[in-house]
Amino acid sequence: MPSPDGLPDAFRTVMRHVAATVTVITATGDGGRQHGMTATAVSSLSMDPPALLVCVNQRTLLHDLLLRGTRFCVNVLAHDQSHVSAAFSGAVAPEDRFAVGDWGTDEHGLRFLADGIASLVCRNTATIPYGSHTIFVGEVTGIRRHDAVRPLLYQNTRYCRCEPIEAVPA
Ligand SMILES: Cc1cc2nc3c(=O)[nH]c(=O)nc-3n(C[C@H](O)[C@H](O)[C@H](O)COP(=O)(O)O)c2cc1C
Repeated sequence: MPSPDGLPDAFRTVMRHVAATVTVITATGDGGRQHGMTATAVSSLSMDPPALLVCVNQRTLLHDLLLRGTRFCVNVLAHDQSHVSAAFSGAVAPEDRFAVGDWGTDEHGLRFLADGIASLVCRNTATIPYGSHTIFVGEVTGIRRHDAVRPLLYQNTRYCRCEPIEAVPA
């Protein structure tokens, strides 16, 4: 067991080893300003109504837009889109990010990825600050499904893809 002082590092190490599907969350700001950010802290929350949650660091640009906006879009990346994830997590300046990947604009002015796994448009219905992050609850109001079926995963600081395995009998 780590000492109380060592707990944050131990937690970070454990969470690094938890594989997660990579998404890019997009939102619009004042004057139609567009922004997107890579996020893996995304989870299904409810089936009725269909809803998900995303956890966003309060120091990010996206956080400000989500606090002020009413909608956001969760774009689930496919295994061949690590360049999109890299661009939207800091490799490319915010104003140039949408040049990386095939982005469209929907009727709400929200940017969505035209390929990958899917894009889920959400209505921002609850905001729960917790520590360094804020949990945003999004009720899903629209879904665009694309052709890709294998998601992009992130595990132990590396991009990966998932491979089916034979289930071992109990
Ligand atoms: C694979 C990956 C997953 C990430 N997941 C999250 C996340 O779930 N929440 C978050 O706040 N930041 C996450 N980040 C960090 C942000 O993408 C990064 O800090 C971003 O550049 C800051 O966003 P901003 O441009 O809105 O300021 C992740 C980064 C990577 C590379």
